[in-house]
Amino acid sequence: MTMDLFSQLPAEPWTEELSPGAMVLHHYVQDQVLSLLSDVAEITHVAPFRHLVTPGGYRMSVAMSNCGSVGWVSDKQGYRYSSIDPLTQKRWPAMPDRFLTLAILAAREAGFTDFQPDACLINRYDVGAKLSLHQDKDELDLRQPIVSVSLGLPAIFQFGGLSREAKCQRVLLSEGDVVVWGGPSRLNYHGVLPIKAGFSPSTGAYRVNLTFRHTGHTEKR
Ligand code: SIN
Ligand code: FE2
Repeated sequence: MTMDLFSQLPAEPWTEELSPGAMVLHHYVQDQVLSLLSDVAEITHVAPFRHLVTPGGYRMSVAMSNCGSVGWVSDKQGYRYSSIDPLTQKRWPAMPDRFLTLAILAAREAGFTDFQPDACLINRYDVGAKLSLHQDKDELDLRQPIVSVSLGLPAIFQFGGLSREAKCQRVLLSEGDVVVWGGPSRLNYHGVLPIKAGFSPSTGAYRVNLTFRHTGHTEKR
């Protein structure tokens, strides 16, 4: 077998535990990267990427969109889930079956057997964009995990503890890696360090992240 042929082979998946209930499924997404990205392109054609403003008035460096029955939004009034995209005044695009299946299977792989995502936040990082340490706590039912899929340029993910001061682990997330955190780690602080310049064959100069959640806000629409 030639080296060229080797480089075509998918990387071997492996699992890294970060803390109880939190793990990285390295190379979990193997042959679906381009299909996922074409779904992202379709979604963001309808619900364009935009830079949200934090309640404190700062423009976020990460550009965001959503699909699913509700989407995460932020403005001067606060953070919340909304069934209407404030930019278009329309419902968010439906979550593609491919997204749903991937999220459910990844959650199961990490030990969460009954994941029912109703929202997917789509984050687009250009070079230098970052996400400060935060907790995902706008969801009503914290028994279900968060499933986060990395595409495009690599990132350094910070994964801390239940307090902002807890020491953070730093994990390199490459395209196809999936992080799942739930159970005792569901409210752990996490963030993304500024994305370094680079070139990704699939996205060019971006990192794209899909974060699946069960928000519990769907029924209240
Ligand atoms: C998030 O915390 O919502 C996104 C994490 C990531 O981009 O890896
Ligand atoms: Fe988050």
